[in-house]
Order: sequence, then C-alpha cells, then structure tokens
Amino acid sequence: MTLKRTLGIVLVFVLLLSLAACANNNTSDQTQTSTESATTAYAAGSATSATNTSSGKKAIVVYFSGSGNTKRVAELVANETDASLFEIVPKNPYTEDDLNWRDENSRVQKEHNDTSLQNIELNSTSVPDWESYDTVLFGYPLWWREAAWPVNNFVKGNDFSGKAVIPFCTSTSDGIGDSGSKLAQMAGTGTWQDGMRFPENDDESSIRDWAKSLNLK
Ligand SMILES: Cc1cc2nc3c(=O)[nH]c(=O)nc-3n(C[C@H](O)[C@H](O)[C@H](O)COP(=O)(O)O)c2cc1C
Repeated sequence: MTLKRTLGIVLVFVLLLSLAACANNNTSDQTQTSTESATTAYAAGSATSATNTSSGKKAIVVYFSGSGNTKRVAELVANETDASLFEIVPKNPYTEDDLNWRDENSRVQKEHNDTSLQNIELNSTSVPDWESYDTVLFGYPLWWREAAWPVNNFVKGNDFSGKAVIPFCTSTSDGIGDSGSKLAQMAGTGTWQDGMRFPENDDESSIRDWAKSLNLK
C-alpha cells in the first residue's frame, strides 16, 4: 500500500512535470515564431533603411565616368546620402587615348562627329531592385557641353516613373546647362530636377555639403 501510494505520487509528479515542460515548449515556440516574424519585418524595413535612414527615402547614385572625376563625386555623394551606387560601364571602355578630345582622330572626336557612333553598348542597364528607389542621383561628365553619351542607353533603357531624378555633372569649365533637361526628355519619365555641376577636382567638403543639402539621409 505504501509502495503503491509512493509510486502513485511519483507518477503524478512525473506527469505534472511533463505537462509543465510541454506548456513551456509551446510558449517558447510561440515566442520564437513571433521573434522570427518581428525579425523578418525588421529586416525588410532595414533593407530600405540600410541605404537611407530617417528621411524614409531610398536613393541610388547612377553614374558614368571616363577618367574618374565623376566617379569620385558619385562615391562621395553616395557616402554622404547613404545611397547605393551603380556605375554605367561601356562594354568597350574608354582609354585615355579614346578620351583625348584634342586629337581629331580619337574615339570621342569620331563619336562626336558622327552621332550614329554614339549608341554605346553597356555592360548592363539593369539595376538590382530598381523599383525600390524613389530618388536617383544621376552623374556624368560634360562632353561638348552635353551629358557624355555613354549614359544615353541607360536613360533610354530604364523607367524613371515615380522617381525624383537629380542630375549632377563634372566639367572643366562649363555649367550643367540644359544637359539634365535633355536627359529628362530622352527618358520621358521621372521628375527630373535642376542639377548641380562640380569642377573637375572640387573640394570634398563642397561635394559633401551639396549631398547633405538634399536631405536624403
Ligand atoms: C570628350 C570630352 C569632352 C569634354 N567637353 C567638355 C566641355 O564641353 N566643357 C567642359 O567644361 N569640360 C569638358 N570636358 C572635360 C570633362 O567634362 C571633365 O574633365 C570631367 O570632369 C571628366 O569627368 P570623368 O573623369 O568622370 O570622365 C570634356 C572632356 C572630354 C573627355
């Protein structure tokens, strides 16, 4: 009788213990699930804010650069605005000789003189996650007072609908002029704003100040 009773008590105890363990498991499963979904939600949100933060804007700097000046500006602007970067790269890149506009036999001179040669094939015109960006900072060097034509196929090949587009250029002496509005016409979509021109080797601080003034961060 005493043994039976003891066994009974032990059994009940074991039963109670396993019930408690089960209940605990369920709770932690639920906790795990809700933590997971919270993490997923956060991750999705932070993918946006990983590029841009409190402004709620998601920006990308798209640029072409022949000899590196625009690339430098593009990188500084992207850094200052927490934007992504996309470089427009011609399949057949321009060498230093190609870019020598003083030589009338250079590639740029030939392309300048015969616009049919300005249809420059690019490595890629498709930006990963393009739809997710609401702001495009669009950089190029001035060539004969126009946006360098290697950007044309990118502009024609992408839909800028719903995006604010902010052009910027680098040049030796000329201002941005109507180079940005000509690109806007070429694109046919997007809200293209007045752009900004930077001298070839502008101070880092002027570039950063301009980028800051856009309030994209
Ligand atoms: C083919 C060619 C044409 C250019 N035309 C102009 C021009 O019309 N006005 C100007 O101020 N600078 C002109 N430049 C100077 C470039 O705009 C300037 O060096 C620019 O910063 C180059 O940028 P990148 O290094 O990103 O290619 C020209 C340069 C090249 C190679």
